Amino acid sequence: MIRLKHIYKSYKLGEMQLPALVDVNLHVKPHEFVSILGPSGSGKSTLMNIIGCLDVPDSGDYILDGSQIGNCTEDELSEIRGKKIGFIFQQFNLLPDLTAYENVEMPLLYHKISPDERHERVMRTLEQVGLADRIGHKPSQLSGGQQQRVAIARVLASQPSIILADEPTGNLDSASGREIMEIIKGLWRDGNTIILITHDIHVADQAERKVYVHDGRLSDKETAV
Ligand SMILES: Nc1ncnc2c1ncn2[C@@H]1O[C@H](COP(=O)(O)OP(=O)(O)O)[C@@H](O)[C@H]1O
Ligand SMILES: [Mg+2]
Repeated sequence: MIRLKHIYKSYKLGEMQLPALVDVNLHVKPHEFVSILGPSGSGKSTLMNIIGCLDVPDSGDYILDGSQIGNCTEDELSEIRGKKIGFIFQQFNLLPDLTAYENVEMPLLYHKISPDERHERVMRTLEQVGLADRIGHKPSQLSGGQQQRVAIARVLASQPSIILADEPTGNLDSASGREIMEIIKGLWRDGNTIILITHDIHVADQAERKVYVHDGRLSDKETAV
């Protein structure tokens, strides 16, 4: 369960403090699929970084599965991320010199799991995203949609419960974008909590619920935007 209460975050620019999030309140229940919709610069990525424990707010409470995140050290944040959260970005962030298989395997090398289990997870997740026949391909030998599918397999291999997707279809043609959305909806049906950030209403509409960000403020009504 994700609960944000009165979250404020600003960035320092020279002498000025520019507000990026202003009194943000959000509750996401387990197994929910929520999309966060807003124009460029509205604070979506800032919000995702906080939800994903990549950054902490200036003030306000963030409670994730009963724990206060605001008081966590860097190491604790990193541990929470590793256990609970999977990120899907607009840029696929694959390592260019590694094959699809190796890209998915990479984060698992830091987990205490046996080589057999590791192999099983890599194969199962690549199969799940429809890439069982591309395991030896490097990112440059894959289409954008296929690269994003490798990135999703890499997330799934770590078995997160919450998946945060920041403009996951932003770099894709519409057909590949639809494929990626089908995969994301499948992950939701499998029981994951999904938070999807987008500026595309057609993408956002596929979630159970939409919330809107405008100038760092969150609203569940579009009219406020
Ligand atoms: N690291 C940063 N330093 C300074 N300002 C930032 C930083 N990251 C984001 N901002 C500013 O905060 C606001 C929100 O940015 P962001 O969360 O990236 O918006 P979005 O993802 O909706 O495009 C923008 O005005 C942006 O310029
Ligand atoms: Mg962004």
